[in-house]
Amino acid sequence: MELPLLRALTFTCAIDSDGSHKRQLSQATAELHKKLFLGEQLAAGIHLQNLSTSASAVTVRPAKNLAGSLRLPGDKSISHRYAMLGALAEGVTELENYSSGADCASTLACLRTLGCAIERREGTVGVHGMGPALAPPKQVLDCGNSGSTMRMLAGILAGQNFASVLVGDESLSRRPMQRIVTPLEKMGSAITAGEGCRPPLRIRGARLHAIEYQMPVASAQVKSALLFAGLLAEGETVVEEPVRTRDHGELALQAFGARVGRGGNRCSIRGGQKLHAIRATIPGDISSAAFFLCAAAIFPDSNLVVDELLLNPTRAAILDVLIAMGVRVTVLKIEEHHGELAGTVQVRHGGPLRGTRIAGAQAAAMIDELPVLAAIAPYTDEGIEIRDARELRVKESDRITAMAENLRAMGAQVEVRDDGLLIPGRQSLHGAEVDSFGDHRIAMASAVAALRAASPVQIRNAGVVDISYPGFFPTLEALLAR
Ligand code: S3P
Repeated sequence: MELPLLRALTFTCAIDSDGSHKRQLSQATAELHKKLFLGEQLAAGIHLQNLSTSASAVTVRPAKNLAGSLRLPGDKSISHRYAMLGALAEGVTELENYSSGADCASTLACLRTLGCAIERREGTVGVHGMGPALAPPKQVLDCGNSGSTMRMLAGILAGQNFASVLVGDESLSRRPMQRIVTPLEKMGSAITAGEGCRPPLRIRGARLHAIEYQMPVASAQVKSALLFAGLLAEGETVVEEPVRTRDHGELALQAFGARVGRGGNRCSIRGGQKLHAIRATIPGDISSAAFFLCAAAIFPDSNLVVDELLLNPTRAAILDVLIAMGVRVTVLKIEEHHGELAGTVQVRHGGPLRGTRIAGAQAAAMIDELPVLAAIAPYTDEGIEIRDARELRVKESDRITAMAENLRAMGAQVEVRDDGLLIPGRQSLHGAEVDSFGDHRIAMASAVAALRAASPVQIRNAGVVDISYPGFFPTLEALLAR
């Protein structure tokens, strides 16, 4: 079935925020189940002869094609939320395909420090719920590189009856925390931050009271932090976001048994609700898949099948954009578990790769996919313009500057805007030495740009991909033809 289906689905889901889309969905699901999975299977074994690594520098050689099938580690956003809510629930939460990235391991480590027993077996995580009261930590909570861990956990810690300290690595220590400090203090906790309201955060938990809060920044992390705090607060907390962001926090709370009010850009939660443990298989991370989907888009004979991929409409905008650019995207199967959609997607090149402009709500919806869209922009016919994406400047690196520098090093013409990039199409790139800027998504996006450069590209400090996707380079290599 050709792609308009997913588009229709996205549209349906975008307008029905309260679950009424499910009826239409189950009909579509039944039809899709009848479709055979026709993907080319990845040849057994992973061949690394085209990939040279030294320390953590990786050299990516130009390729001719990308074909095969893959399944990705569990979605990072969902993994964090299920682990945190599992800790607050009653019973043991069993999570299959939990993200293998270092970020989600940071969340588990913090939860352990808060007294939660966690078993980690090959790809599966068992979280022994403690109910709403966690244990006072005997040491600081190290969030590593993970902004999601720090911001969302802060929401939970604000409602505990103890003090805690959250620290992060060098990159996380530069990231803005005012966005959570202001509302969590309004709810009754006391938070001290470093200079410029950056980490470390010292949180004195309290009996929280509900607030009605209009978020000045579109951030799903902040929305989830406030809903988690709202769960522990007295009264009904209402959060309104400027544009709609990913809704995993709302869906996860519902999956664990909480009632969450939803309508338009507002959501609400009544405090004091009990959570129960769940068993779940976490769908493949679509933000990690984006690197492969975009790599497939730049080769004329590409054929990529991604199985068990997260297709939540608040995350799947990259598929709509690729379709609009002329890529053939086919949804071969779709299912819903715990409110999250997941399925099998086939991506093939569909003729000339058109350019596009990403702005407004679309920029917020695709915030993690913008670096890789920038990476393929030179290979499009009309180029790609990205606007309204100032948030890119306060991610793990300043992603606007980082992508501009790397693409320019490879010979591309790039115009930098305060809130985005303008990258003309029909450009030829050449080999270069570039840097990851300590940012996993910059390393992976640069690798995708390298695939159609005239000569090899060396990416320094590329080991940072482990933050979200430890197997990225071998998996990419196994799908490429040269
Ligand atoms: C995330 C939200 C986004 C995203 C991050 C994960 C989440 O951050 O960039 O990778 O899981 O909620 P913001 O909330 O800062 O936009």
